[in-house]
Amino acid sequence: MAKDRNLILAFESSCDETSVAVIENGCRILSNIVATQIKSHQRFGGVVPEVASRHHIEVITACIKDALAEAKVDYSDLDAVAVTYGPGLVGSLLIGVTAAKAVAFAHHLPLIPVNHMAGHIYAARYVGEIKFPALALLVSGGHTELVYLPAENQFEIIGETRDDAAGEAYDKVGRVLNINYPAGKEIDQLAHQGKDTFNFPRAMEKEDNFDFSFSGLKSAFINTVHHADQVGEKLDKKDLAASFQASVVDVLAEKTVKALRTFPVKQLILAGGVAANSGLRERLDQELTAFPEVELLKAPLKLCGDNAAMIGAAGYVAYQHGVRAGLDLNADPSLEFDWIEETK
Ligand code: KG4
Ligand code: ZN
Repeated sequence: MAKDRNLILAFESSCDETSVAVIENGCRILSNIVATQIKSHQRFGGVVPEVASRHHIEVITACIKDALAEAKVDYSDLDAVAVTYGPGLVGSLLIGVTAAKAVAFAHHLPLIPVNHMAGHIYAARYVGEIKFPALALLVSGGHTELVYLPAENQFEIIGETRDDAAGEAYDKVGRVLNINYPAGKEIDQLAHQGKDTFNFPRAMEKEDNFDFSFSGLKSAFINTVHHADQVGEKLDKKDLAASFQASVVDVLAEKTVKALRTFPVKQLILAGGVAANSGLRERLDQELTAFPEVELLKAPLKLCGDNAAMIGAAGYVAYQHGVRAGLDLNADPSLEFDWIEETK
């Protein structure tokens, strides 16, 4: 097979999804195998790190095999191996990193280290080319941040959550409503059938920064439900969901608009697990009508959650920029983009 296809074997194992993909030229998915462990974690109401690592070990070899078979390629066709090395759960990350290193070593392939959050941003690459400067609203189970992208392969944080991530708040609130982990999708569906009647707080909305906070909202929600339980009052689950979602979406949208006013960009990228939220997608569509010069690039719904295709897309860009790791690459559970100079 011709070598000019730039075939990258990509690995993602930062949390509870084991995923291996084969990506051509950084923008074409030949395969994207995702083995989810959600069922094993559901009874605990969240991801149990030790359980996650063990699952990754069990399935990673089969995922590699399936990814190559589905892409109809062999190890000898590959140009490079890309892997998420952080942020995430250390035991989980280590499985992907070790598998990627083994393949790179055995087949004499360059090893490309990829930041999981860069991967989320590059999921949007499958919708269209990324144009710089760009701004990304990254909303996942572990992170909520606004990232400025001055140029290709450059990422600068301009704001982030001071406490819970948006997805984490969805999942914690979901537990109170007896919704299975991860609760985001179901709350999103309920929200569309209810009304914002509770008027929960919109934290830090008016503050002069690009940071977020969701723990106050989470506490207000939990207190409301507990109080109703104690006095035997029945609250409408749909209205609770709608009120919670209205607060999350308001805060995310307002801070994003503020960032767009401060940082003139060509594109706004919406990515991360919570980017699948229909309320947020609709709201950003509306807000962007005030910014005709900014194109909204939303990660495709099926690539919002953790997957290796996004790591392959980000890995390809890093590969073009000469980014390489040695076989001493280690997992970095608290890996972060640098903060932008102006807001330090
Ligand atoms: O990016 P992701 O797959 O994993 C992390 O890197 O954290 O994000 C998972 C998070 C979970 O908290 C889940 O509840 C949330 O994304 N999520 C949603 C929706 N779909 C998934 N949150 C709100 N609305 C959704 N439709
Ligand atoms: Zn993620």
